[in-house]
Amino acid sequence: MSTIAERAPVIGAALDRVDAPLKVTGSAHYPNDFAYPGLAHAALVRATIAAGRISTIDTSQAEAAPGVLTVITHLTAPQLGRGPMTLLGPSPPAPLQDDRILHYGQHVAIVVADTTEQARHAASLVRVRYETTDALLDLDDPRAEVVTNPWNLDTERGDVDAGFAAADVVVEGTYTTPDNTNNPLGLMSTVALWQGDSLTVHDSTQWPHNVRTSLAQIFKIPESGIRVLAPYVGGGFGAGLRMWPHVILTVLAAREVGRPVKLVLTRPEMFTSVGHRPHSVMRFKLGATRDGDLVAIDADGVSSVAMEDDDYEPVSLCAAVSYACPNVRTRDRQVRLNIPCPGSMRAPAEGQGNFALESALDELAHSLGMDPLELRLRNFADVDPLSGLPWSSNALRECYERGAERFGWTSRNPEIGSMREGRWLVGYGLAAVSYPAYQVPCQARASLHRDGSAFVRSAATDIGTGTYTVMTQLAAESLGLDASRVRFGLGDSDMPYSPQAGGSGLTGALGNAVHLACRRLVSEFLDLVRDDAGSPLRGAKPDDVTVSQGRIHLTGDPARSEAYTDILARHGLEELSADGRSTPPQPEQLGMAVAGAFGAKFVEVRIDPDLGLLRVARVVSAIDGGRILNAKTASSQITGGTVGGISQAMFEDTATDGETGRIANATFGDYLIPVNADIPDLDVIFVGEPDRATPVGTKGVGEVGLVGLAAAIANAVHHATGRRIRSLPITLDQLMR
Ligand code: MOS
Repeated sequence: MSTIAERAPVIGAALDRVDAPLKVTGSAHYPNDFAYPGLAHAALVRATIAAGRISTIDTSQAEAAPGVLTVITHLTAPQLGRGPMTLLGPSPPAPLQDDRILHYGQHVAIVVADTTEQARHAASLVRVRYETTDALLDLDDPRAEVVTNPWNLDTERGDVDAGFAAADVVVEGTYTTPDNTNNPLGLMSTVALWQGDSLTVHDSTQWPHNVRTSLAQIFKIPESGIRVLAPYVGGGFGAGLRMWPHVILTVLAAREVGRPVKLVLTRPEMFTSVGHRPHSVMRFKLGATRDGDLVAIDADGVSSVAMEDDDYEPVSLCAAVSYACPNVRTRDRQVRLNIPCPGSMRAPAEGQGNFALESALDELAHSLGMDPLELRLRNFADVDPLSGLPWSSNALRECYERGAERFGWTSRNPEIGSMREGRWLVGYGLAAVSYPAYQVPCQARASLHRDGSAFVRSAATDIGTGTYTVMTQLAAESLGLDASRVRFGLGDSDMPYSPQAGGSGLTGALGNAVHLACRRLVSEFLDLVRDDAGSPLRGAKPDDVTVSQGRIHLTGDPARSEAYTDILARHGLEELSADGRSTPPQPEQLGMAVAGAFGAKFVEVRIDPDLGLLRVARVVSAIDGGRILNAKTASSQITGGTVGGISQAMFEDTATDGETGRIANATFGDYLIPVNADIPDLDVIFVGEPDRATPVGTKGVGEVGLVGLAAAIANAVHHATGRRIRSLPITLDQLMR
């Protein structure tokens, strides 16, 4: 069988979202839409100090309040297990296991009542006294524990010191990014229902199987007795990658009261309960020849992490993997603070590190008097800088060329402050992105029914990215059916195993599993008719056939064909099913470095130099995402990512009070994100071709959309004003005259 990528167009049809009618009519049920007879409601009590211990906790008033069913604290909670170690690191520790407070907002009690209002009122009546100790809240606090090389990902190649000694030009800068909070629109919600020893959980998760495995380990029950459902999730941005303590508390509460329980986090609780992008300080130093050849890079990153939990954020690593440079050293450290645990947020690590790297390159270009685009082209990595292997695909040059052409980069006058539009200073900036590939094993099952329809499923999630739609398209193509005849199912842990919707890796992992399941299904049909005298396909091998219009055809003689439905009918079958299992492509086996997505981002900004106003006027994103399954959903992904990137660059800043550790802006009234008026027309173009590492040929097009905007905007600001912004977000006070 030829791979799909060889036969299909690079850009798939712009099919409307198959789940759109359900969503706009309110028939798509999100986790907090579920109710059961006898449903009780939970509310959390959160610590109001950042470090210390609970000296007393008085629940008597709360327990006596109307409608209250139970109040669980560390004094009454059972001992709980811990969830599994995953590719993303360990699971968060279970809540309410002792009297220690490690961060502001830590859950210290859960209250269950007949209504949400009763639960919240009762939660306000829980009286907690604390013994406070000094909170560690500052990355520079000398008392804080420093974890060096936390992921064993520090890199070193060549001779960095000799490289700098030989450099004609050296630039060095310290770049900082603040805490950011994921804030999916859908408040994260859990509904837990025990029926005897079996448990059903509706949850805002990006990874149903992880919730199932975690709950099995924590409550010491078999996985087979647990079903986790998440057919619709109101966004994730990484907040749903881990199973956080509030899910455990809801399940515990439901067991305790013997009724189904629902917990919907409040927006302020979202800021302390489900992870955030950590604060980072990055010292990046680049050395180059006068001609602009990079000869040395030294990148050092420090990020905050929680006292007793972990998070994966190798912020300096991008400096080792993005450009051809013989002498490179990258190092990462984490500093343990009394903060809510950071977690993956929209391009974790890349979102921070790329700002440092692509800003430093702009500084280098400026020092060299070289066009920043030319500098990047000059240092293009023809092969993977880490392994030296050829890329499975890499159209970054095409991203530069097509993006620059679309943007009109050549009309940029390199002189600082030289371009104007009325009273506005105009700046052009760019940044590149080399997003790492992430793929993990995945399974899917495909069934063809007697009525000619197909049902394909996997326990994946669609967090708004379009998974339902692109998998429907892919299955339709692999089976030769019209998309309207295919139903795709997901968000149910009873379905075949799927990894998380994260790391921009699901479309690849799941797409290949779906493709393999569908191809195997076609093989099953051929097996059925192998000795079938009545079939024109008798004796045909999978390599001999193609599929279209609900039929299998002999490729060499397309008139010889048979419909799936006829084969099923003749064999007295209601349906036929097959499983597919994708495994991550192996670079050694392929002799290729498995490439992630690439991108070039071109930005025009306008600045009012008197008022410090900054406006993004235009953005062109040129993306190599490998094979694009659906032009519309892929483009929406990049558009959404671009909004997130503008948001990171200019707005988002989770402000922690340095005295108490309280997050001071934990509402949508105070935490800034862009509104429509902040976002200009966003131009997205896809370049490149199907990636060679997998049969389907896709690469992730999620996070590559966000990365690069912060640096491109900051670089444009420099072009307009001569101000070098090394600290996000870019605020008015940094730009005023
Ligand atoms: Mo993402 S931050 O891998 O959901």
